[in-house]
Amino acid sequence: MRKNEKNFKIIRSPLALQRLSKKILAQGKSIGLVPTMGALHKGHISLVKKSAKSNDVTIVSVFVNPVQFGANEDFAKYPRRLQTDAKLCAESGADIIFAPSSKDMYPAPLQTYVRSAIENMYCGAYRPGHFTGVLSVVAKLFNIALPSNAYFGEKDFQQLHVIRKMAYDLNFPVKVIGAKTIREKSGLAMSSRNEYMSCEERVAASSIYAGMQEAKKMYKQGVNSVAKLKKIISEKIEEAGGKIQYIEMANKNDLVPVKTKISKAAVILLACYFGKTRLIDCDFLYYPR
Ligand code: PAJ
Repeated sequence: MRKNEKNFKIIRSPLALQRLSKKILAQGKSIGLVPTMGALHKGHISLVKKSAKSNDVTIVSVFVNPVQFGANEDFAKYPRRLQTDAKLCAESGADIIFAPSSKDMYPAPLQTYVRSAIENMYCGAYRPGHFTGVLSVVAKLFNIALPSNAYFGEKDFQQLHVIRKMAYDLNFPVKVIGAKTIREKSGLAMSSRNEYMSCEERVAASSIYAGMQEAKKMYKQGVNSVAKLKKIISEKIEEAGGKIQYIEMANKNDLVPVKTKISKAAVILLACYFGKTRLIDCDFLYYPR
């Protein structure tokens, strides 16, 4: 048994965690926070390991945040398995799981929210209120866990961007650290939602990565037209039976849309459906190529 596994704690109360975090900080220790909604996979675990490497104490929050789900979205069926998650976290170097109930986090409806100016772009255009829900819960988590460093995946690139910008704009004393997307062998980005898909859909969904790789290859060969690059990706996905919700290119640093030609580091952002499952992914077009 590892040292962590012996002292590993599950904490439910926001106040109890905030008190403990204050004590940890008073001892001069650093805290790493990995916010999640649970159903942990290797993508989440890569964040836990990254945090455990650089911080004295790693806290993983597991909370399926009702405020970031739309009325017709998958809040009710989102997978929940806290005991398995806790075991995985302990084995991966985490010290604390913070697993509050909805009542713990929202004893009364919020009257105060954090909003991003780009909440209606990219994914936000199709998920009204989603990023307000994400930012508001992450702001709460930062104030409860008091992390020195917080870890987020690049797979959800718009989320990583708006959280980083929130921390900067609102002077949170937290360093927001991005981590690369962990993929299945097929190239499919790991996601708690992959388990909604049938075997066939999962195989077909590897076309997302294949499409982005093909676009990156053409970009390296000199194609910098956004329309052409988008077409390469959409054709691959559609050939495999996927339905595109959106494909956009944006500047990597500020997420300003790139409409015609790539002329600085850019990110491909996309969402599509395989069957009823909505998947998102992203990849980078570096400049100079
Ligand atoms: P969740 O979808 O559980 O993801 C938690 C974190 O894991 C996010 O930072 C996400 O980007 C990262 N992640 C997911 N799949 C990954 C992969 N394949 N490779 C690397 N990182 C991956 O994102 C959320 O929860 C919520 O919106 C949250 C930030 C917790 C707020 O409720």
